[in-house]
Amino acid sequence: MGSRRAVADEVIRRWSRAAERWARHADEIDAEGAEITAWLLGATALAAGETLLELGAGPGGVGLAAADAVKPGRVILTDIAPPMIEIARERVQRLGLENVDLEVADAAALPQPDASVDVVVSRFAFQAMDDPGRAFAESLRVLRPGGRLAFAVFPAPERNPWSSLAMQALAAAVGAPAPGSQKPGMFALADESHLHSLVSRAGFVDVWLEHVAGERHFASFESWWHLRRELAPGAAQAWASLDETAREAVESALREQVQAYSAHGQLVFPSDVLAVAARRPDRR
Ligand SMILES: C[S@@+](CC[C@H](N)C(=O)[O-])C[C@H]1O[C@@H](n2cnc3c(N)ncnc32)[C@H](O)[C@@H]1O
Repeated sequence: MGSRRAVADEVIRRWSRAAERWARHADEIDAEGAEITAWLLGATALAAGETLLELGAGPGGVGLAAADAVKPGRVILTDIAPPMIEIARERVQRLGLENVDLEVADAAALPQPDASVDVVVSRFAFQAMDDPGRAFAESLRVLRPGGRLAFAVFPAPERNPWSSLAMQALAAAVGAPAPGSQKPGMFALADESHLHSLVSRAGFVDVWLEHVAGERHFASFESWWHLRRELAPGAAQAWASLDETAREAVESALREQVQAYSAHGQLVFPSDVLAVAARRPDRR
């Protein structure tokens, strides 16, 4: 790919385009991510009066869930894509939360001063960033000594067929690279030892990686397939570029593949998340 700026601009375009569809499904996304949100907030052991910064917040699910726990402290929701921050703003207003600030910000160049927050969290966003190493370094810079980082990314595509089957089928149909090889992309931080060393090299200590396995349930093939095309960035675009014959071929191949996950009239897929906690060293 080209320069860092060009890649970052493409990331902004990709997620800004996806934002309208993410707005429609924000509550569903949070319901699906509830277990991981609980893991992240549990790992950071939030205390009243603390400041929590969420990176790549999208519609803001983790920060919104943390707002009560840090009162009278504050939550800062940030994302590089302005339309995502607008979705989060609308949700903050709807919930009447008064201790939540919103900011368009690149996690690799944060506007927050040094040592100004107690906790940094991020759900499924570091792998979407063009320079996650720099984003970890920035997270360390803005954390106070002893401050906590907790985030979640996805392990290998085959551990998450609820997403990778659709992504693979669409990538093959439009001649795009397979999902596991896209950087940035959903599986870009799937390699645990690479991830561990990125976080450690940024200066974090007590780096803890844990797999959180679960299931994703869908009422029917149609509801699963509709949601995949709505939420996977690039999927709507890939789908729109296919003619009727190519669409039928993709759909019938997928119907066949998901048979393996059909149970009691539903689709039940395994899912796996890589959840990570770490700490900025204490001041010596
Ligand atoms: C998969 S979405 C996750 C959204 C949200 N955290 C959630 O779990 O619902 C990834 C988000 O990361 C954001 N993002 C990508 N690169 C970023 C960067 N460099 N800095 C901040 N946010 C970024 C995207 O705009 C998008 O909103």
